[in-house]
Amino acid sequence: MLATRPRGTNDILPGKVEYWRKLEDVIHEICQQYGFREIRTPIFEHTELFARGVGETTDIVEKEMYSFLDRGKRNITLRPEGTAPTVRAFLENKFYAEPQPTKLYYIGPMFRYGRPQAGRFRQFHQFGVEVFSSHDPSIDAEVIALAMDYYKRLNISGLELHLNSVGCSKCRPAHKEKLLEHLKEQYTNLCPTCQGRYEKNPLRIFDCKNDTCQKLISAAPAITDCLCDDCREHFEQVQKYLKEINIEYIVDKKLVRGLDYYTKTAFEIMVEDIGAQSSIGGGGRYDRLVKECGGSDTPGIGFAMGLERVILTMEQQGLLKDTKFEQDVFVATVDSSLDLEAFKILQILRSEGLSAEKDYMGRSLKSQLKYADKLGVSHVLVLGQDELATGSITVKKMETGEQTQVQLAEFVSYIKKETNF
Ligand code: HAM
Repeated sequence: MLATRPRGTNDILPGKVEYWRKLEDVIHEICQQYGFREIRTPIFEHTELFARGVGETTDIVEKEMYSFLDRGKRNITLRPEGTAPTVRAFLENKFYAEPQPTKLYYIGPMFRYGRPQAGRFRQFHQFGVEVFSSHDPSIDAEVIALAMDYYKRLNISGLELHLNSVGCSKCRPAHKEKLLEHLKEQYTNLCPTCQGRYEKNPLRIFDCKNDTCQKLISAAPAITDCLCDDCREHFEQVQKYLKEINIEYIVDKKLVRGLDYYTKTAFEIMVEDIGAQSSIGGGGRYDRLVKECGGSDTPGIGFAMGLERVILTMEQQGLLKDTKFEQDVFVATVDSSLDLEAFKILQILRSEGLSAEKDYMGRSLKSQLKYADKLGVSHVLVLGQDELATGSITVKKMETGEQTQVQLAEFVSYIKKETNF
């Protein structure tokens, strides 16, 4: 146990970390271009934020949260998602007092106690964006465009954008009534979870994975067919903006998301071939959440994508190449009495912007050269007692084995020239 990581977690190892950095570099670049600013919120929050924000009847709140009492007897939860914390930060830091909209993005670990499987983890990472204060359908389209643009910049192909509108508090009651009427006779055939959802939140029955529930719900009236004028107009406008910039989508009337805060626009981006977990990202509008969290009536919209799933997809599509860890110079010594000298030279090289390494294991010169070769350095500086006394160093070019005597005062500029620095 001591040397085993908890189930559903991953070590991101050297060699793979470079993939993550690439993903993160593109995130920062694209968000800057779309006018989003980065926010970093705590890994844990008060449990109540998620219970209220994400919704009491969601799988996340019902069974997937890492919650505990801290030593001060406060109810704390490791964040299962980033929207509720961003709303909390928006309110707490009075972002609403600045010119609106507020456009924020985040990258970080999230925690959900689900059953681990391919693409589903207990600690995973999301890149998400949130926009506050605008009802404008163009911002819905922009948020979707940002997500799709991101995948495009990573050269990911074969994605499907599923789009729906889940209405608002005006159109939902009428739909709920129709839905309950439709399911009434079949209530006993619903799975126990959906029987619970029947009264509390029947829309979520659309999201059930149970075959019988899926069959029962497939002929049920869709919320999209019951939208009020405002929601219908908004949904049409979002589609108009998407079409204008050639973003392809599928209107998926059965799409409801696993979190309760959505209103109007809801979307999910699907990818084939990453096992059962085909959702690579998703989001939507949440026009009531800010108020629910204690703020004034403020609309919001955003998305989040699972970075592990992005990487899995890229691996499957052959888009990630292993990078070799390379250093410029190895400082070897003929005998260990010169170690202090090597240590000093190492720092000089590093302060000049070169990457440099030495031996820390008491290796012989022969072993040091072998180790330097393994490290993939292009040059080895060999420090010898006699040469140092005459003010020079031997530089060995690893590719050819060629050795050159260089004056101590010049070794930095020599190496820089050699490595095209
Ligand atoms: P979500 O659909 O729960 O939405 O998660 C977004 C994405 O996170 C998923 O599409 C998936 O790629 C990834 N993901 C979720 N759970 C896991 C897991 N256990 N393991 C690996 N990846 C996972 C949200 O979290 C919303 N906060 C999105 C949002 C932002 N809506 C509006 N603004």
